[in-house]
Amino acid sequence: MNIPLLHRLRANPDQFVPLVDLGSDIDGVRRAIDELESFGFSIEHHPYRGVAYRGHSGRLCPDQIEYELNTERVGRRIAVWNRVSSTNDLAAGASASPANDGLVVLAEEQTAGRGRRGRVWTAPPRACVLMSVLLFPPAELDEVRWLTALGAVAVADVVAECTGREPKIKWPNDVRVDQRKIAGVLVERGAGAVIGIGLNANLLMSDLPDELQASTTSLRALLDRELDRSELAKAIIQRLDYWYLLGRARGAESLSPRWRSLSEHVGNRVHVITRDREWEGVVADHDLIAGLTLALDERRSVQLPSAEILDLKAVDLHGSAGSGNRRDSHGSLGL
Ligand code: BTN
Repeated sequence: MNIPLLHRLRANPDQFVPLVDLGSDIDGVRRAIDELESFGFSIEHHPYRGVAYRGHSGRLCPDQIEYELNTERVGRRIAVWNRVSSTNDLAAGASASPANDGLVVLAEEQTAGRGRRGRVWTAPPRACVLMSVLLFPPAELDEVRWLTALGAVAVADVVAECTGREPKIKWPNDVRVDQRKIAGVLVERGAGAVIGIGLNANLLMSDLPDELQASTTSLRALLDRELDRSELAKAIIQRLDYWYLLGRARGAESLSPRWRSLSEHVGNRVHVITRDREWEGVVADHDLIAGLTLALDERRSVQLPSAEILDLKAVDLHGSAGSGNRRDSHGSLGL
């Protein structure tokens, strides 16, 4: 696909560009435009004024994702599927070969999408970014907790960039805006590490069952327009690559400042379960590695290392733990 031509048209949305301005080989230009249209891009033709870009494709476009991706590790290979069981399955299936380090698997639809704790993750076809990345991390980064944070921070960066809002990460893997889940991360370990990300991109709130509407959002709901999922996927890959390379160069701690700034829990009252007991207090600090500094009362505080935290829930104003989002996010119905 002629992606530079696509970019040229997109640079002036809704403005007609004469075909002669798009290349000296007019037949070649026509063929390239036909190809863009056959892929779902909306282009208007005018007999004298040329062509105008009217809208992105509703399908994921691998060429568009790869064009000027400029990543070093994540996205070295990209596979886009129409329908799969779970993108995590496909990424895990490629883990026998270390040459697949950085492989990204994307799908328009999953028939057996998974969330954390055995929950089901469902999403209407072509509504979300459903992505899995296969990595072979060095020992220091090879921890479910760190890899989950990597996925959550990368997707939160992209949500922040395209909405202008500051999303928050609800421990351990939910990315939320205004306390509504917009993305989730599922890390699974096998021969390699698979980071699965589901981002509610063009999900319509009317697609959701009633009981999830109050706890779920999407980019489309926030911005009141459809987004190009290829561009979103590309941006997530770039952020994953950025943070992963930084982690490899400077260690696990390098993700901490951004993760801390995104933590939904700092300043809030939480209920925490550790291996040997339960705690309740206000989160004074939430470090990715060092864990929680929990103020138990005005005089006492306790440090709970991340590795020891089994569960962490917000305590609502009436004193009970839980956010009310018990069935998890959007399509993740926990069936
Ligand atoms: C959660 O919030 O519980 C995690 C949801 C993760 C969903 C994504 S969608 C792409 C990848 N494939 C899956 O089966 N799950 C993850």
